[in-house]
Amino acid sequence: MNWKFSYTVGFHPWEDTDQEFFQSLSSLLEQEEQGRNSPYGRALDIGTGSAIWAIELAKRGWDVTGVDFVEKALERGQERVRAAGVEVTLVQGDVTRLSEDQVGSGFRLILDTGTFHDFDTRQQRAMARSVDALATQDATVILLCWPRRIRPLIRGVSRDEIETAFAGWQIADVKPSFFKLPPPLEWLLRPDEHWYRLRRA
Ligand SMILES: C[S@@+](CC[C@H](N)C(=O)[O-])C[C@H]1O[C@@H](n2cnc3c(N)ncnc32)[C@H](O)[C@@H]1O
Repeated sequence: MNWKFSYTVGFHPWEDTDQEFFQSLSSLLEQEEQGRNSPYGRALDIGTGSAIWAIELAKRGWDVTGVDFVEKALERGQERVRAAGVEVTLVQGDVTRLSEDQVGSGFRLILDTGTFHDFDTRQQRAMARSVDALATQDATVILLCWPRRIRPLIRGVSRDEIETAFAGWQIADVKPSFFKLPPPLEWLLRPDEHWYRLRRA
């Protein structure tokens, strides 16, 4: 997917989620927050885009850093952050080569709503290495993935690929996100999207 082009022309259907999607993410976040008091710790929003979910995390009481490599997306993100009146640190960077200097470390939660699943094998492993280095020992990684399939635009990823890239982690849960695209895209792309929740093995 050419993300820069998408944001330039205003094609970002992933931002048009509904209540059912929101509930599916909320229940995963509740699991991470249960039995703790806010602030919950550091959260890293991988491929944050226009910071929709980074803002939601901040509202819930996480100390959030969002990373994306598309300037236009981050500009929209900054506007949203200002309008929401929350604190979110937005950083321009490549999530396949994140460093502590750039984003810090000690992340208890790593959220990726739609970045990893478009990566090739080399990029998947590089992103997982970055995450592994920046996450706490008790961290949770939440990935939103489409299955690997021949389709335009998004590559998709298999469970095996997730397990191989995130060696040292194990998949604790797989749940549907209920994400739906507008009719022609839904039929063409068949997202069949799922949340993968990973914990260190
Ligand atoms: C499907 S969009 C999701 C955006 C946001 N998480 C959301 O749900 O609204 C994927 C995002 O990943 C970003 N992205 C893709 N590859 C990246 C990379 N190597 N480094 C940083 N960001 C990347 C894109 O710019 C895009 O904003």
